[in-house]
Amino acid sequence: MYNFNSGPSILPAEVLQQAAEAIINFNNTGLSLLEIGHRTNWFGEVNTEARSLVKELMQLGDEHEVLFLHGGASTQFMQVPMNLLDDGETAAYCDSGIWGAKAIKEAKLFGNVNVVASSKDKKHSYIVKDFTVPADSKYLHYTTNNTVEGTEWHHIPETNVPLVADMSSDIFSRPFDFSRFGLIYAGAQKNMGAAGVNLIVVRKDVLGKVKRPIPSIMDYRNHIEAESLLNTPPVFAVYVALLTLRWIKKEGGLAEMEKRAKERADLFYNTLDSLPFYTPIVAREDRSLMNATFSIQQPELEKEFLDLCKENGMVGVKGHRSVGGLRVSMYNALPLSSVNEICQLMRHFAEKYS
Ligand SMILES: Cc1ncc(COP(=O)(O)O)c(C=O)c1O
Repeated sequence: MYNFNSGPSILPAEVLQQAAEAIINFNNTGLSLLEIGHRTNWFGEVNTEARSLVKELMQLGDEHEVLFLHGGASTQFMQVPMNLLDDGETAAYCDSGIWGAKAIKEAKLFGNVNVVASSKDKKHSYIVKDFTVPADSKYLHYTTNNTVEGTEWHHIPETNVPLVADMSSDIFSRPFDFSRFGLIYAGAQKNMGAAGVNLIVVRKDVLGKVKRPIPSIMDYRNHIEAESLLNTPPVFAVYVALLTLRWIKKEGGLAEMEKRAKERADLFYNTLDSLPFYTPIVAREDRSLMNATFSIQQPELEKEFLDLCKENGMVGVKGHRSVGGLRVSMYNALPLSSVNEICQLMRHFAEKYS
């Protein structure tokens, strides 16, 4: 199969193999990973190694903490403002896609939201680059990669207020100066493993500043104190994250992930641009290296295109239900050869109907 799913999505074959083995016999313990307590040394080692690998890959020091928490990234839309934004205070948000818009909606439950940049006027098909963040904003929130629309920020916004980023769909796909962020969150189910766990990377100095009482399980400080074992973690998802992090490191780290992402995206977008039969949807300079969105000039051919993909073992090419069109997701584990296959199919299909 050629897996272009947008998430949950393709994982390295060796990660799937190791995860499958751990379900039957975890590290030769004679027990399944699913049968051992989360407070055993066995799982303790998984938790410690996964958290330290995140720091190593992100080149972060002691001022940042790494947590693996339940719930999808959607939980963070609420947990972030609950911990960082007091009633009456204002946070700056960028509205660059449907996930950012959902984050804005949740933040409004806790304080004021100042939308400092929005590309809603053109259906979120570009990234707003020129905007001002008032100095008294509690933080600036943005979505580094807009999974649905197919745009990606290729720079870190300049601001003196703490940066908060939803990196769900491009986490670990490129090196960044991660130390510039006050808080990063990402659902694991794209570049980092199985669904069911969130990665949170938080700089400790942004915490403890709101006056509201925070439910214990929602308070990042409690999770930090418990070293990410406050309650039963999603053990399987944390283990798959560990296997994926090990794979990223072994393959050459984030610089290598970025190199591969660029190769895949270059091949795909060059093909797309060479075929007027298809229409790219987003501004060229803001194209995502992870999710390429496009449409067919004759939309009535879309179903036939998708049927042909299916016949050829290609899955996940239909656009998100909220925007339609087509989307090819190219996460870390996707080989260049898969991109080559879909490019050939696109060429043949265009020739047939042009
Ligand atoms: C950028 C981004 N943020 C948030 C989410 C929501 O994640 P979840 O379904 O894990 O809550 C997604 C899901 O695809 C996403 O792509």
